[in-house]
Amino acid sequence: MQRTEDGQTVKLADYQPTDFILRGVKMTLMLFEGYADVSTRLTLERRQGVLADAPLNLDGDELVLESIAVDGLTLEPSRYEATPESLKVTGLPEVGPFELAIETRIVPEQNSKLMGLYRSNGIWCTQCEAEGFRRITYFLDRPDVLAPYLVRIEADKAAAPVLLSNGNPVDSGDLEGGRHYAVWDDPFNKPSYLFAVVAGDLDLLPDEFVTMSGRTVTLGIYTEKGRAAQAAYAMDALKRSMAWDERRFGREYDLDVFNVVAIADFNMGAMENKGLNVFNHKYVLLDPDIATDTDYAGVETVIAHEYFHNWTGNRITCRDWFQLCLKEGLTVYRDQEFSADERERTVQRIGSVRRLKAHQFPEDQGPLQHPVRPSEYREINNFYTATVYDKGAELVRMIATLLGEAGFRAGMDLYFDRHDGEAATIEAFVACFEDATGTDLSQFALWYSQAGTPTLTVTEQWDADQRRHAVTLRQSLSKGAAGTGTEPMVLPLRFGLVGGNGEDSDAEGHVTGGAELKDDLIVLNGTEATVTFTGLADRPYLSVLRDFSAPVTLAHEQSEAARIALARLDPNLFNRWRALDDLLANGLTEAGRRPLGDATPPLGAPVIEALLASAGDDSLDPAFRAQALAMPGEADIARQIAENVDPDRVHEVVEAARLAIGTKGLAIFERLRGSLAPDAAFSPDAASAGRRALANAALGYLSAARGEPSDALAQYETAGNMTDRLGALAILVHRFPGAEGTEAALGDFYRRFEADDLVLDKWFALQAAAPYHGAVETVARLAEHPRFTMRNPNRVRALVGTFAAGNQVGFHRADGAGYHFVADKLAELDRINPQIAARIATTFRAWRSFEASRRTKLAETLRQLSEIKGLSKDLQDIVDRSLK
Ligand code: PHE
Ligand code: ZN
Repeated sequence: MQRTEDGQTVKLADYQPTDFILRGVKMTLMLFEGYADVSTRLTLERRQGVLADAPLNLDGDELVLESIAVDGLTLEPSRYEATPESLKVTGLPEVGPFELAIETRIVPEQNSKLMGLYRSNGIWCTQCEAEGFRRITYFLDRPDVLAPYLVRIEADKAAAPVLLSNGNPVDSGDLEGGRHYAVWDDPFNKPSYLFAVVAGDLDLLPDEFVTMSGRTVTLGIYTEKGRAAQAAYAMDALKRSMAWDERRFGREYDLDVFNVVAIADFNMGAMENKGLNVFNHKYVLLDPDIATDTDYAGVETVIAHEYFHNWTGNRITCRDWFQLCLKEGLTVYRDQEFSADERERTVQRIGSVRRLKAHQFPEDQGPLQHPVRPSEYREINNFYTATVYDKGAELVRMIATLLGEAGFRAGMDLYFDRHDGEAATIEAFVACFEDATGTDLSQFALWYSQAGTPTLTVTEQWDADQRRHAVTLRQSLSKGAAGTGTEPMVLPLRFGLVGGNGEDSDAEGHVTGGAELKDDLIVLNGTEATVTFTGLADRPYLSVLRDFSAPVTLAHEQSEAARIALARLDPNLFNRWRALDDLLANGLTEAGRRPLGDATPPLGAPVIEALLASAGDDSLDPAFRAQALAMPGEADIARQIAENVDPDRVHEVVEAARLAIGTKGLAIFERLRGSLAPDAAFSPDAASAGRRALANAALGYLSAARGEPSDALAQYETAGNMTDRLGALAILVHRFPGAEGTEAALGDFYRRFEADDLVLDKWFALQAAAPYHGAVETVARLAEHPRFTMRNPNRVRALVGTFAAGNQVGFHRADGAGYHFVADKLAELDRINPQIAARIATTFRAWRSFEASRRTKLAETLRQLSEIKGLSKDLQDIVDRSLK
């Protein structure tokens, strides 16, 4: 990829293949205390048609060149130009392969960006996506340069008895001076971002998996000393993932070994390096005492996600970083489907849609907006976004909805067949579905290039004389920050006309305008269409956008009575949830627009009754009922209010609603508490987790209604697992901050778990999220706590990230103290780990939606950040785009 003239922006339109083809990579990494020597031998060949005097340009990042040779001969200084960021070599052979040997010395101990080779609690590990490999050696560091790798690692045997890399182990042995080596051979062509090396004193949880063709794969999860047993659930999830990918997509694992390493200091969730996945240990280590049900679900999802990348990402990778959604959107879709099959489909879908609305919608509707496939970037690290991942997954889901199960599978099979071993593009991916099914997806492809959330407006007209129901659908997309097109797109809309008996009618529909009707699907492809249904006995309730079949903002003019009826009757369980969620969100949004102190109840009695009816309906899955009871987030309500938001008012209405629901439902919540008593033995399965979720939701409402902490205190003290303990502690810290028991419980929690960093993160995060103005002081005090450090991304996210993104009341305190605190921390963090600083800074993007005084202060803070000298490219990019 080439940087354009300003040296900053990279553009999709500028894509050019490299002048040189890479045939193979041989590396030796010699690890020592305080430095590492890296020697790399690249077999290269000038591409046909490239000028004979064209130089070879390699990428670097903070590198020092120690030596360089071509075909065994050290190069004269006149033949090359080396800077920390680049290496240019001239006079290379016109035809045929040659070997370029490069030596660099790097200092993993000083690598606080956690990109390239670094040390985490003494363990050597690498992170190369997106552009980390160039921090290890000079390279054609781009995803369309694929090669087999042979990697030799040498280290002190006592410091690093375990030496791992990609592929299969082929040799190992002892060396002089207490050192040893291992050689790993990865025969599959791969880009440099999938390279990995791990070395250290690690414990191993071993296992194996027999593939569908009968090959035995050796599995290993490596952890810090003494923690291998906590990887048992991750191992179970891994084996289920391997079996699922065979069943569902016919995809078999390809190497003899598959290793996972759990690391404490990691910028993201995990990384799919070929045959050697490296994980943030948060997504590996679990047991009931330290992990919540949410943590269990997270481990299952992330293990599956990284494993699934072996086919969608590794065997077929991306031509350039603009195609990131090709691997990420598709792999998120696959992990969502896995969880839906392993757990409960509707509940999983509710979770994914909540996530989409909480993270992707605000991104798509604000200054950081970009299409699922962006066409330019200044810093690729800032494009690992909810839009690329989660909206990207929605686009794959829409293709599956449009083509049906068999058509979708045929398209996927063709994709694997046609592009195995390649670096592909979105066009190539979409073409597979077109070719496999004979469908024209050219209009659909607009979803990849047009940014923004389309609005789907739905109106209904019942003709009582003719017994006819007309449904009019309209789509619109407005130009946002990305400035991309606003053409009508293809919206697959699942629907049903629900009768008073709770059954879908099979009335005939007739379309006028831009849509097609097939069974329970309306495919809206024009700006507007009307579907008229005839032969109905009574006016039906329209249930539209079932399962959230398209990522749109739904503006459905529907009466409260109709929504309440659907909450009870809709045979589509997802839409029952959405009916309730819309009732709550609409009430809270409307109330949130009124001034602070306005005492009009945010929710009417019928809405509360509908909610309580679901909560108390024992025929429904407890996990579903817990979802129904979960209030929309305050940031979500703020987004829907859209302008002049007062976060104090939003919090006030949410609390008023909670109190009203708790008071009215007291008897139901008491009964639920009784009937959902904890199981004697803990099981992490979805049904047990659902019962705990419902019991904890009931505890929340009960405590609000009673206005005192004793129930939560009792649960805290007797809890047999982290879900119940943390659930109770959250109620104490967030609702009863002054109470004697609260301080005692917080102290107890700290003492109990201070040895475990992952639990300590929960202790920091819980306090950072406490919805009080005084949270600013609490968080500032915690930033001085001996266990707080800027060097561990999980810890920074727990305290600073949670406060900025998960505490509307504290962060947005009217005097601006929350903004100053976060900005100060970001300036400090930026010098240590720019990626994490940039990620947390995205929370400022919503600044325009707040009332004038906060809006001014937020903009001012962003401006001050933008003017800091020497700001990283990562943070500068986020700040500048946010202000745009
Ligand atoms: N590719 C990783 C995933 O989604 C995420 C990641 C990106 C990790 C960049 C590290 C660095 O599976
Ligand atoms: Zn991924």
